[in-house]
Amino acid sequence: LPVASFDGVVFGATGDLTMRKLLPALYHRFRDRQFPASSRIIAAARTELDSDAFRSRAEAALRQHVDPASLDGELLQDFLGLVQYQTVDALGPQGWPELVATLRERPDQVQAFYLATSPDLYGPICHRLAEHGGLNALSRVVLEKPIGRDLASARAINNAVGEVLPERQIFRIDHYLGKETVQNLMALRFANPIFERLWHADIIDHVQITVAETVGVEGRGGYYDRSGALRDMVQNHMLQLLCLLAMESPISLDTDAVRDEKLKVLRALQRVEPHEVNACTVRGQYAAGVAEGRPVASYLTDLGAPESLTETFVALKMQVNSWRWAGVPFYLRTGKRLPRKMSEIVVQFRTPPFSIFPRDQHDLQPNRLLIRLQPAEGMRLEMMTKEPGPGGLHLRPTGLDISFEKAFGQRYPDAYERLLMDVVRGNTTLFMRRDEVEAAWNWVEPILQGWSERRDAPRPYLAGSWGPTAAIAMIERDGRTWYESF
Ligand code: BG6
Repeated sequence: LPVASFDGVVFGATGDLTMRKLLPALYHRFRDRQFPASSRIIAAARTELDSDAFRSRAEAALRQHVDPASLDGELLQDFLGLVQYQTVDALGPQGWPELVATLRERPDQVQAFYLATSPDLYGPICHRLAEHGGLNALSRVVLEKPIGRDLASARAINNAVGEVLPERQIFRIDHYLGKETVQNLMALRFANPIFERLWHADIIDHVQITVAETVGVEGRGGYYDRSGALRDMVQNHMLQLLCLLAMESPISLDTDAVRDEKLKVLRALQRVEPHEVNACTVRGQYAAGVAEGRPVASYLTDLGAPESLTETFVALKMQVNSWRWAGVPFYLRTGKRLPRKMSEIVVQFRTPPFSIFPRDQHDLQPNRLLIRLQPAEGMRLEMMTKEPGPGGLHLRPTGLDISFEKAFGQRYPDAYERLLMDVVRGNTTLFMRRDEVEAAWNWVEPILQGWSERRDAPRPYLAGSWGPTAAIAMIERDGRTWYESF
């Protein structure tokens, strides 16, 4: 559905996120005529630039990050025509009166402020906007993750922003919630009663969530080294996936109905006490190796530092304390420089309680539901079937497959495309509420504390491998194994 004309102000406009994700997403929405050409994109950052110079940077970024088949020269120029640049100092006086004057030219439009900056600027930017009269009932502020680096800093940011804007005008973005396949989890669970009947501890043995990346830290070492995989991927994206898998049915699709149910899951997570981190977590850091067929350097070399205790891989064993999930472990793993870019959920069902097939001839595999979030988006239900042939009864696992690409045959919009339009629409359902973010930090914090008390280094793993062997040992101690499919 097209949205009404709006002003989009991007703070941190010269940064990586704007160039790689936000501008391409806006371009695609514009190309699909999802917003009118009377909208304006106001890029704001500290760098001294004029609008023409910024437009050239934006054009170069779009040429690099948008599929050439979608780049239409005339349309691109029309899009760049919507863009203007304003030098603004988030912590000083420069640029604010001019920015606010520009916004006042169109007082009746939605104003979406995207804060693609370091989180410690979220409070100051919102306060400056308020002081200069730049906020009104049509303003929306989008906060990128991570919101802070622990519970106290997250609360401080939420307080500072909350002083000048009500919760319904605050959009805490987690781009995983904008991914088509992640939204599809709601359809899978609540539009298909056959699965919902099976979705509990009597039938499910365990759940695995893997988010594997082949990239290293690229140019983001400054940010990443202060975060690590737990803060960068687990506190937000992976816990959100877990919530969607584990939550009870919301009473409706209303924004608070959905978020209330996710919050209950976060609150039901078994706390990992600092002294338990060795049993339930494994940290790794990539060493030099081979990724996607070429030699790659270690994390420390990429970072340009002689040492660092930051993890680029983490594996976790988690429990959701509820009637539905008691006794069902959730195993999570994520890392940089793993063998493939792949995000997948494996729901493994229990094996038959008794087998009529002679054990020595038949290795009965449990049923598994595989949900492939990216790439090759789809689902597979693995079942045991008889191999064809007259020579007896031989069993083999086979998959009931759905490929979303084949089923729908259309481009998957990037997560940011959907989410940016939701901001303009004022729909917060796919954004994190304050209490969700804080509950997630609350769960993560004792793990961070346990790691820092131990002060031991993360385990090295070869770039291009599936992480430290301790991550394999962690799940195999429970008689289970990481499942690689497709
Ligand atoms: C970001 C993290 O939130 O998600 C990055 O900061 C990570 O470190 C990225 O690479 C992964 O997103 P996607 O959409 O490529 O799976």
